[in-house]
Amino acid sequence: MVGRPEIEHDPVLADRAVELLAARRGLTVVDATLGHGGHAVRFASILGKEGRLIGLDVDPENLTRARDRLESARTDDWPTLHLFRANFADIPQVLKAIEVPQVHVLLADLGLSTDQMLDSSRGLSFLEDGPLDMRLDPDLPTTAADLVNRLSESELADLLYHNAQERYSRRIARRICQARHRARIRRSGELVAIVTAALAGTPRSPKIKIHPATRTFLALRMAVNRELENLQSFLAIAPKTLYSQGRVGVLTFHSGEDRIVKQDFLDRRRAGVYELVTPKPVQPLRDELDRNPRARSAKFRVAARTQLPLPADA
Ligand SMILES: C[S@@+](CC[C@H](N)C(=O)[O-])C[C@H]1O[C@@H](n2cnc3c(N)ncnc32)[C@H](O)[C@@H]1O
Repeated sequence: MVGRPEIEHDPVLADRAVELLAARRGLTVVDATLGHGGHAVRFASILGKEGRLIGLDVDPENLTRARDRLESARTDDWPTLHLFRANFADIPQVLKAIEVPQVHVLLADLGLSTDQMLDSSRGLSFLEDGPLDMRLDPDLPTTAADLVNRLSESELADLLYHNAQERYSRRIARRICQARHRARIRRSGELVAIVTAALAGTPRSPKIKIHPATRTFLALRMAVNRELENLQSFLAIAPKTLYSQGRVGVLTFHSGEDRIVKQDFLDRRRAGVYELVTPKPVQPLRDELDRNPRARSAKFRVAARTQLPLPADA
């Protein structure tokens, strides 16, 4: 496959998101990760013309797709739309620019849309050979090729271990450094071959049959796009951004992200800032999984801001 495939991304847990985030007419909602606008269209159709939908995405192609999808779904009862190419770590600046002091709902559906994953020009998938880039925001300064060719062996091993809990991080890092000594690693296919060779003969969990390069690709993508740092910023911004009783929901797709969201919501509940709307994460049911295998690892957590004033350090 060459370039970006024309695949429509199916929104995960869309009905549950609308219900758990208590979306209703007239509210102001931030969809922090527009993607193809699947969730955004669902929210727009509920907010009505008294409502406001603010949407962000770092990927200009997805921003265009979301804008087109929202326009083609438009009715006479459509909310005011504000769509931005922006990082959700910058929500305060975005809201300031449109003079919206606070919002009722914040939604982040983390990770990638299906077409981004399969876009061979980004090298995000170990199934498609392409340039080893991995940037969702094409203006980011560092590509995955920069990281694998520049970091020291121990920095690479730490990155693989911390971001994706790769148990063979040291072995893979050693192989990467041996390979790049011969020639710069430029393609995702080259990295797949290096990791596969590094893991040949190692015992893999018989229960989880994942591709040997899965964790290496995940760890690099997270580093290139600063995914954990952006998530931490989003979670830190949320309390001040929400009106009292406003809700924040985060859809995650791997355990590292889910742990961060869970801990943040628990800490803020202890501080009197949040109530937990979902004491346990909500996961898709069988029929959604049959329709949309990407939903397999999804976990959705929602918290609501309490009516108490925010502590000074919130
Ligand atoms: C899983 S998709 C969202 C799908 C969307 N909810 C839908 O229904 O179509 C994630 C999107 O978030 C974007 N994204 C990832 N990190 C981001 C960030 N820090 N700020 C803004 N957008 C981001 C990606 O470019 C991608 O388009």
